[in-house]
Amino acid sequence: MKIVLLGPPGAGKGTQAKSISNRYSIPHISTGDIFRKNIAENTPLGIEAKKHIDKGHLVPDDLTIDIVKDRLKKEDCDKGYLLDGFPRTAMQAEALECFLNSRGEKLNTALLIDVPRGFILERMTGRRVCPACGASYHIKFNPPTIDGRCDICGTDIIQRKDDVESTVSERLDVYDKQTEPLINYYKSEGLLTIVDGTKAINVVFEEICNILGSNKNDNY
Ligand code: AP5
Ligand code: MG
Ligand code: ZN
Repeated sequence: MKIVLLGPPGAGKGTQAKSISNRYSIPHISTGDIFRKNIAENTPLGIEAKKHIDKGHLVPDDLTIDIVKDRLKKEDCDKGYLLDGFPRTAMQAEALECFLNSRGEKLNTALLIDVPRGFILERMTGRRVCPACGASYHIKFNPPTIDGRCDICGTDIIQRKDDVESTVSERLDVYDKQTEPLINYYKSEGLLTIVDGTKAINVVFEEICNILGSNKNDNY
């Protein structure tokens, strides 16, 4: 199963992606997580990506597209994958389509987690993330069992640098201009499915499973 997850910053893409990836046994590929890992390791890619991410801007297309293509060629993607945060521009969507066409493959769905802007700021400013495993928490809506510690790996959770209010508003503007148009693109391709992302995390996940189907070995 090959899925693209669409939705504004803070919609819950990362939160749902972890559950979908477990449920359907497909790798969760988050370009944001790949960049943050490289930033933490101070690699050349990380140094370049940081310049853009800290301002709330997108990392340049050519760099991002090459990284995703390399990742999708890995063996664990043979049975499918879940793309979280990619594509984010028309050029990225075209590159993904070309990549799939060249391999005789097709996307199964572009799943939009629909959350109006009014919900986003509270979600983003209350978010805490695990720098080790990428798990995402919220101080009010999804707190870890032990205050300040990741449930999965025990690492101290932190606030993302780009989750301060000024950067969040820039990221939302970038989303409106560059990423939201992809909703119509996938709609015209007949691939768009929509889930109401304002409901509780477990309810959103149930609805996603209803959309994707109950058979986890389903290779449709
Ligand atoms: P990225 O890491 O992808 O950030 P984003 O798209 O801005 O999305 P977020 O990760 O902020 O939100 P999310 O939808 O994953 O929400 P989450 O599940 O955490 O990208 C970061 C940066 O990297 C970009 O700004 C850009 O610079 C660069 N980049 C990445 N990809 C790129 C690309 N393709 N091209 C160019 N540049 C790229 O949830 C948010 C909070 O809400 C959490 O606290 C969570 O616990 C809570 N929450 C989740 N669901 C619910 C719910 N149903 N109810 C209540 N609270 C909820
Ligand atoms: Mg995310
Ligand atoms: Zn962790």
